[in-house]
Amino acid sequence: MTKAGDKPTKMSKFERWKAEKDGLALKEELENYARIGWEAIDPVDRDFRLKWFGLFFRPKTPGQFMLRLRTPNGILSSEQLAEMAQIVARYGEDGSADITTRQNIQLRGVRIEDVPDIFDRLDRVGLTSVQSGMDNVRNITGDPVAGIDATELIDTRDLVQEVQDLITNGGEGNSAFSNLPRKFNIAIAGSKDNSVHAEINDIAFLPAYKDDILGFNVLVGGYLSSSRCVSAIPMNVWVEAKEVAPLCGAILTVYRDNGPRQNRKKSRLMWLIDLWGIEKFRAEVERELGTKLATAAARDEIEGEKSDRIGIYPQKQSGYNYAGLNVPVGRLCAEDMFALANLAEVYGNKEIRLTVEQNVIIPYIENDKLAAFLEEPILKKFSPNPKPLVREVVSCTGAQFCSFALIETKNRALVLAEELSEELSFPEPIRIHWTGCPNSCGQPQVADIGLIGGKGRKDGKTIEVVDIYTGGKVGKNSTLGTLKMKGVACEDLKEVLRNLLIEQFDAEPIN
Ligand code: HEM
Ligand code: SF4
Repeated sequence: MTKAGDKPTKMSKFERWKAEKDGLALKEELENYARIGWEAIDPVDRDFRLKWFGLFFRPKTPGQFMLRLRTPNGILSSEQLAEMAQIVARYGEDGSADITTRQNIQLRGVRIEDVPDIFDRLDRVGLTSVQSGMDNVRNITGDPVAGIDATELIDTRDLVQEVQDLITNGGEGNSAFSNLPRKFNIAIAGSKDNSVHAEINDIAFLPAYKDDILGFNVLVGGYLSSSRCVSAIPMNVWVEAKEVAPLCGAILTVYRDNGPRQNRKKSRLMWLIDLWGIEKFRAEVERELGTKLATAAARDEIEGEKSDRIGIYPQKQSGYNYAGLNVPVGRLCAEDMFALANLAEVYGNKEIRLTVEQNVIIPYIENDKLAAFLEEPILKKFSPNPKPLVREVVSCTGAQFCSFALIETKNRALVLAEELSEELSFPEPIRIHWTGCPNSCGQPQVADIGLIGGKGRKDGKTIEVVDIYTGGKVGKNSTLGTLKMKGVACEDLKEVLRNLLIEQFDAEPIN
């Protein structure tokens, strides 16, 4: 699949492996792999192709896989969350779950011998992990308060599901979209606050009116990585809701067939757009669709600050509220998951929602149940009114489970947020994002303060360091942060952050 613009170098090993056998072909082999155990599995299947089913071999904890689900629009039923809790509960201390920055769930501790049973259980509750890793379309994000927010413009839930069903063939796996040049992110915003971080997605839909019809303006090509971070750019297209899924299908097909594949650092969608220019890209998508696309509306409806949805808010349904609860750095154990599922059953409509800030929302709490809800013991851990910094902190997996990590992240992020929030007061929320290596899974570039783990030298020894980015903005005029300081030793970080918070973010020492 060499295209104009690619250097005539040899095929990357990933392209070779994909050409040899599609990841989805492993469906037939899962039973056998469960029987023979992780050590006997073909290494390319184990470390690479199993990711087509969301199964990540973790070299740090060999034999304990991470399982990445798909949770369209970040919405789960209590039954689904309880089923996931049961799955991780069987692994005791080794079992846990993380809420990710794509409104998704990753389960930890999963043993390959249990996978057929786990997949049956997930299937029974309507969940799939298919095509959630490697060169596939990641969990599709939507508005976390879709259908319940009084100021909502478009309910994104069915649209997100429709796109997921198209890409995964209703969860069965779809070989039409299982060999993209690289990973791919899609987001659909439904209200005015750009809740999905449109700018860092390969395709983003933003509500926009054209001739009094509410549809979407389309952005394309945004992504973050260790070597390039770029905001999505306007495609100069406006679509009605019913055209969202077909347009995604057409863009994916054009990208699949034409996207550069030889250098994995230069194969995300934006590289194809760079190569062709946006006009040609748009024309090729129209050709694939077989129809002309409307030009973009003059403006989209995004305005103002992005809400983190933490706290108690009245719903558009009179008499009901939703509660946004802070899950510090997104980490859940099995008991937490049972407790949240239980909260949704007792007080809500059996629904739990996830946010890109790694938090949860429990919708449909009746006014007269609110007082009792707020007394529930689990709200001590997952607060609707958390401390500043803890409220906003986001972290990638880091050294505990990820072999790419150069530093420990989640624990450190939480300890520092707690300590600094005891010592300082803040005029405004400050979003600190941690990421354990330059791969940037924790999205440091969208944060007020973004920390990227690395290694440095001090007194002849190798030490953990971070590069510090500042100035990332979300919401209407979103911008990516830029490098502020390089190679700050993690052992000095508290002092450095304290000073930065005071000098650049107007924090004030308490007493
Ligand atoms: C070559 C670059 C990258 C590699 C090799 C990579 C690899 C990984 C791995 C191995 C994990 C799972 C770690 C674990 O939980 O055990 C992970 C998680 C994740 N990655 Fe990446 N990643 C890359 C770039 C990115 C980028 C640029 C983004 C988007 C900004 C991203 C988003 C995520 C998300 C959302 C998760 C889930 C965990 C979380 O919420 O932080 N990744 N990545
Ligand atoms: S940023 Fe690095 S350490 Fe963190 S999850 Fe991604 S690959 Fe792992």
